[in-house]
Parts: sequence; structure tokens; C-alpha cells
Amino acid sequence: MLNCCKEQLKPRIFYAKTRTVWTKFFAGAKKLFDANKNQSGSARFYFYMNPKKKLVVLTGAGISAESGLKTFRDSDGLWEGYDIEEVATPRAWRKNPQLVLDFYNYRRKNVLDAQPNAAHVGLTALEKGYDVHIITQNIDDLHERAGSTKVLHLHGEIFKMKSERNDDLVYEIRGDMKLGDLAEDGAQLRPNIVWFEEPVPLIEAAVPIVRSADVFVIVGTSLVVYPAAGLVNYAPWEIPKFILDRRIPYTSSLYNLKTIEKAAGEGIDELFRHLEFEI
Ligand code: APR
Repeated sequence: MLNCCKEQLKPRIFYAKTRTVWTKFFAGAKKLFDANKNQSGSARFYFYMNPKKKLVVLTGAGISAESGLKTFRDSDGLWEGYDIEEVATPRAWRKNPQLVLDFYNYRRKNVLDAQPNAAHVGLTALEKGYDVHIITQNIDDLHERAGSTKVLHLHGEIFKMKSERNDDLVYEIRGDMKLGDLAEDGAQLRPNIVWFEEPVPLIEAAVPIVRSADVFVIVGTSLVVYPAAGLVNYAPWEIPKFILDRRIPYTSSLYNLKTIEKAAGEGIDELFRHLEFEI
């Protein structure tokens, strides 16, 4: 008798389960519709048919040049006025920490005075159509101030400092750093910057982001510093790729590459026009 009831109930249970699944599906769809009902018909149609494509952007000092921040290797670049060995290596820190702090205190002030330019703002606007991931070699915060939501700083951040003994003890800093400023483990605080000859821990997070890109864009980097420069080789072979730079850097042959040889703020509109076709 019991078995017989079970058999009879089976179709009803199946029906109830199916109904729950469909109810959930339609509730989700309605939510999406409500969130996008102000868009035009074609935009809405596109939205339902395609979740946002992943746009990965690798940026370097060139994107911040029009904000008044010096690049490194241009003719008036930072490395013209400073010796890398003296200010941006662990050896420099051991030899003359005051000089290193002076150098980064000066750069922190410059960044505080700078404002995001059209290129930073443009990348933020792209988030409307794309799932934008920015991987930057820059230590400034201009991408964040422009409003970009996913920014990975490969080479550290000028507004952070850390214990010289423990990389996990990281603190915010807006003003000047001084010798004698200590972390909670009693060690001297140093800038949270990846110096030459140091490993780049976030490269491991960056590689899968580039590997899963639908579109890859490079803005304002000479592509000479590794491992960051090597990221271009992880972009899927077939996807559209763009370089926007005042002087297009050398890259080993990249398939499906378009170049825009302009200053970042000036060329961002042209990049936009290309990207519209990739959506
Ligand atoms: N718009 C676009 N590109 C520009 C502009 C501009 N206004 N001005 C300069 N550029 C380009 C240059 O043509 C060059 O290709 O920006 C690039 C700057 O290159 P670098 O000075 O080498 O800077 P970057 O590639 O970011 O350096 C990488 O080197 O010293 C280290 O850690 C530092 O993160 C930095 C890394």
C-alpha cells in the first residue's frame, strides 16, 4: 500500500520541483528586466543574450602621464633623474633608507596633487558594457579615484606601507614616512612597493585574469619590465587585442592586434569606437 502511494506521488513531487525551478528562473529574469528596463530594446536584447565580456586592461606609467606623473623611461622620465639602484632596490633600502623614503615621500605628494585624466575615466565608463579588470604596474590610485572597481596593483601602492619583516602587516599612509616609524611587530615601516629584484606576488593572480580575457588592452607601458610584460603572452591567441600608447612598444607577434599610437587621453575615444564592435 505504502509503495503504491509513493509511486502515485512521484509525478506530483516531480511537478512541484520543476515548478520551483521555473518560478526561481522567472523571478531571476524579472529582476534582470527591472534592472535594465530603462535601456533601449536592442541594448536589452543584447544584455539577455550575452553576459558582459571580460575586458582586461594592462596599464603602465603612460596612462598617468597626462595627469602630470612622470613615466620612467621617456626622455624626461623618473629614471633620468634617479638611479634605480639607489632608490628602488632592497640594497638601496639597506644602504640608505632615508634616501629611499625621500624618493617615495616625494612621489606620494605628486600623486596626491594629480587627478585622473580622460583615459582613467574612460576605462571606468567601459564598465557599463564590459566586465573590466585593470592590471596596473602603477603605484598611483588614479584608476580607483576615477571609479574603476577591479584594480590589481602589480607593483604595490604608494598609499600603503608595510613592515620590513612581515609583508602581511600593511598600513595606509597619506603623509610622509619617517625612519623610526614602526609596524606592530617592532620592525621599521617601508613603502609597500615591489622593488627591482623582489618577487611580484600578485603576478599569480594576474595570469588567470589575462588567460580568461575576451578582449585585451594595453595602455601606456614600454613592456620592458618582467614579469608584468610577460602577461601579454597569456592572452588567448584569438581574442582582439589593442595597444594604446604614444609610441607603440615592441611586442612579440600578437595575433588580432590593433594599435593606436596616441597619448592615452587623446586615443581613448578611438579605443572606445573599436571596443563597441567587440561587444
Ligand atoms: N599616453 C600614452 N602612453 C604614453 C604617454 C601618454 N601620454 N606618455 C608616455 N607613454 C608611454 C611611453 O611611450 C612608454 O611606452 O608610456 C610608456 C611608459 O613606459 P615606462 O616609463 O617604461 O613605464 P612602465 O612601462 O609603466 O614601467 C614599468 O618599470 O620602473 C618600473 O616599477 C616601475 O611599474 C614600472 C615599471
